[in-house]
Amino acid sequence: MALFKRKRGTTETMEHGAKLITIAKPKGPIAEQFRTIRTNIDFMSVDNQVNKLAFTSANISEGKSTITANVAVTMAQAGKKVLLIDADLHRPTLHQTFEVSNKVGLTTILTSKANEIDMKDVVKTDEVNNLSVLPAGPIPPNPSELLGSRRMKDFLDKVVSHYDMVIVDMAPILEISDTQVLAGEMDGVVLVVRQNVTQKAAIQRSVEMLKLTKTNILGYVMNDVRTGADGYGYGYGYGYGQTDED
Ligand SMILES: Nc1ncnc2c1ncn2[C@@H]1O[C@H](COP(=O)(O)OP(=O)(O)OP(=O)(O)O)[C@@H](O)[C@H]1O
Ligand SMILES: [Mg+2]
Repeated sequence: MALFKRKRGTTETMEHGAKLITIAKPKGPIAEQFRTIRTNIDFMSVDNQVNKLAFTSANISEGKSTITANVAVTMAQAGKKVLLIDADLHRPTLHQTFEVSNKVGLTTILTSKANEIDMKDVVKTDEVNNLSVLPAGPIPPNPSELLGSRRMKDFLDKVVSHYDMVIVDMAPILEISDTQVLAGEMDGVVLVVRQNVTQKAAIQRSVEMLKLTKTNILGYVMNDVRTGADGYGYGYGYGYGQTDED
């Protein structure tokens, strides 16, 4: 019998931030893969315009924050005015990734008593042109309730009129119940799947849960596709939006 449970996931990005490979090596093959992901998302949005886009995955540590941040950078690099929001209140990373203060953030806006939402103190403009970031903020004891609140919905509706694209890094759908509610508020959601890690049943369950809140599943990003010598890659596809009953 094992005395200790094997530790799940990693806290690397929570402690040091996600790797912004699209900034570090904008001409490299991985940045190119992110541009392909961007193009695919644009393509999937032709019929229903997507201005509120979110990423989730079945479980923790499947690459959501890394992919969300790099997609946001890639869209900003293409000239879109982008706001990136950290809505993973359990495992926030964005303040570390972009090296901004987390003293105020999304939770500050959601818990404020003021009627009007004043964003200028909490939204930070990053050194990447066109990109603003909103960190998670201090974590309250009831983080899940906040994300499913009316105020969150109102906030998203308000903020979307100021940007071409609002991109949200969400908690994993199978682990944090409010992800499902928040997903339903978005125009489109992309599921991150980690190659050789995410199990098929977990993907199917995630899709079922997203469908319950009538979420528009745009497709999936296959993370950690071992493509080349650097063993680090991303692919985009769609198909997990379908279940066997469809
Ligand atoms: N393609 C990849 N190749 C190698 N390592 C990766 C890849 N994508 C992410 N990682 C690493 O996997 C870990 C988890 O990544 P990340 O924090 O982006 O995932 P997450 O799904 O947001 O996790 P969490 O559930 O904590 O929010 C990090 O250490 C990150 O550096
Ligand atoms: Mg994360």
